Amino acid sequence: MSLFSLRHFGVSYRDRAGLHPALQDIDLDIEAGRHLALLGESGSGKSTLALALAGLLPASTVMTGELARQGFAAVPRAGRDIGMVFQDPGGSLDPLIRVGDQIAEARRACRGGSRGQARSLARDWLGRISLPEPHAAVAKYPHQFSGGQKQRIALAAALVSEPTVLIADEPTSALDTITQHAIVELLRALTAGSGLTLIFVTHDIALASQLADDVAVLYQGRLVEAGPAERLFRAPSHPYLKALLATRQELGAIRLRRFAEIDPQDFSVKIPQASGEAGRG
Ligand SMILES: Nc1ncnc2c1ncn2[C@@H]1O[C@H](COP(=O)(O)OP(=O)(O)OP(=O)(O)O)[C@@H](O)[C@H]1O
Ligand SMILES: [Mg+2]
Repeated sequence: MSLFSLRHFGVSYRDRAGLHPALQDIDLDIEAGRHLALLGESGSGKSTLALALAGLLPASTVMTGELARQGFAAVPRAGRDIGMVFQDPGGSLDPLIRVGDQIAEARRACRGGSRGQARSLARDWLGRISLPEPHAAVAKYPHQFSGGQKQRIALAAALVSEPTVLIADEPTSALDTITQHAIVELLRALTAGSGLTLIFVTHDIALASQLADDVAVLYQGRLVEAGPAERLFRAPSHPYLKALLATRQELGAIRLRRFAEIDPQDFSVKIPQASGEAGRG
């Protein structure tokens, strides 16, 4: 069953000069329980599509065509049925509110219940996302965490209300490789067997190949390729996806070559003697 069906769907941003199309003529079905990667270069419209699916486009936008949301128990609401993690890892969090309260309030706003229950759920979630000392973390503010930790807290705040769909806009792009890997593993663990539909934006082909069942490729606001990840990565047809895959192969080759060149004995660090150097010349 398709949770989202888009037909000739378009979005334009409006300013004084007029309308600027960001998405045009998109035909796409997003199936329940699948993991969809939205791929595309910067400015291709990935965030605009993510916001449109979540119903969170700013008022300055004009939508055309059709965007049908189906298969939700009630009219879907962002936050409750559709969890959203924004592109900037800290952007989803309020800097002035303790993270435990933010997660608890996200729960209560969407699902009700007592303050005590919501706080205890918040603590559980901080543990599930592998934050060190979750009992102490509830009382801390966002600035007391690293970028990767904030990204995990944002995930917890999005998932605490048990949404049907999680939309994550570049969940790993601001993070170093090791932290990226940890987020991917976390997303895998959180979505495994849960039936959650995951829609994530990325221009990281490695992330897409690790997490996605399906891939949709945007190019200059148009959907240029969509289908099962396995097929698209094996036989890409659009030049953008071909180029992305080629870069990945090249990077892989460079990495292998670099590691092969490193002499495992050569890890000693030599510090030149400052006084001796200064006396020369
Ligand atoms: N709030 C806005 N007001 C006006 N134009 C916008 C706004 N947000 C995005 N746009 C424009 O819409 C187009 C698509 O932007 P979008 O943010 O969706 O791209 P993206 O694929 O997410 O890019 P990136 O990878 O850099 O995040 C761009 O031309 C952008 O300038
Ligand atoms: Mg974006």
